[in-house]
Amino acid sequence: MKILLLGKNGQVGWELQRSLAPLGELVALDRHSTEADGGCGDLDQPQRLRDTVLRLQPDVIVNAAAHTAVDRAESEPEQAHALNAEAPGVLADAAQTVGALLVHYSTDYVFDGSGTAPWREDAATAPLSVYGRSKRDGEARVRDSGARHLIFRTSWVYAARGANFPRTMLRLGQERERLTVIDDQWGAPTGADLIADVTAHAIRHALRERACTGTFHLAAAGETSWNGYARFVFDTARALRPELALKVQEVAPIPTSAFPTPAQRPLNSRLDTARLRDTFGLVLPPWQAGVRRMLAEIL
Ligand SMILES: NC(=O)c1ccc[n+]([C@@H]2O[C@H](COP(=O)([O-])OP(=O)(O)OC[C@H]3O[C@@H](n4cnc5c(N)ncnc54)[C@H](OP(=O)(O)O)[C@@H]3O)[C@@H](O)[C@H]2O)c1
Repeated sequence: MKILLLGKNGQVGWELQRSLAPLGELVALDRHSTEADGGCGDLDQPQRLRDTVLRLQPDVIVNAAAHTAVDRAESEPEQAHALNAEAPGVLADAAQTVGALLVHYSTDYVFDGSGTAPWREDAATAPLSVYGRSKRDGEARVRDSGARHLIFRTSWVYAARGANFPRTMLRLGQERERLTVIDDQWGAPTGADLIADVTAHAIRHALRERACTGTFHLAAAGETSWNGYARFVFDTARALRPELALKVQEVAPIPTSAFPTPAQRPLNSRLDTARLRDTFGLVLPPWQAGVRRMLAEIL
């Protein structure tokens, strides 16, 4: 089996390099890849992207590349649309042509965040931001292509590698005694490692069960606010590394309205993952388990 992975150095892409490797021959590309690496992996070059798929004839395409700068997208909507909507459409058309399964990632930001119930896959989308709209349009293009696909909508992604919310909190917690962190946005922090492992299992399942195609919510179990997440990070860091010079004594709750950002974010990012668990026979661990493990790795 041949797998083409795009966005190999992102949070999820990096973990996919590990989790997809045992499944078959893996061609992993990023935006700078050349013919010597296996082809073009730049979402900004649709024709060359398409040529790469037609030449490689992969059995599976996994697209972990995206324009993920949520606030910046507000001032560069064309770029967000090109990378998050048009490029997935090109990949999906090429996947349909060569008969490949396309795996694509989307986001809780396709929802408007109203209510408190976890969102099911069939709930109406109503994104609040340019990023959310571009991701919603990307989903639609994948579905409309007729290619067999798995779209995984996930939320609040972190990884041991690179910048992330826990790392930022740990830095601020060493500098200040009091922090203010939003307490009215709810979701589940989800590890890139979990997303990658679930993806590998799902691909194996989908290749056996030809009827398996569609959209699935993929997030760790449980829920918290950014404030609860931050407090968990500090409690866990203190337990793991008592000698760590954490100054922070108070993590005060503030509403989203007190922390304006260019992009509006949904208050309710809870995702109902029953469809994914039932379809693939998988268990999604509590969010605390993944965050604790990641902290043990980076501290
Ligand atoms: N992060 C989250 O909290 C979150 C939440 C929900 C859903 N998602 C979705 O999950 C997926 C993976 O996200 P992630 O957290 O792994 O994102 P990430 O760490 O930002 O990785 C995205 C990757 O896309 C690459 N990329 C950007 N422009 C490109 C281009 N023109 N051509 C090729 N590659 C390009 C980036 O490369 P450079 O580093 O070179 O720019 C980066 O390696 C995305 O579809 C995202 O929308 C993420």
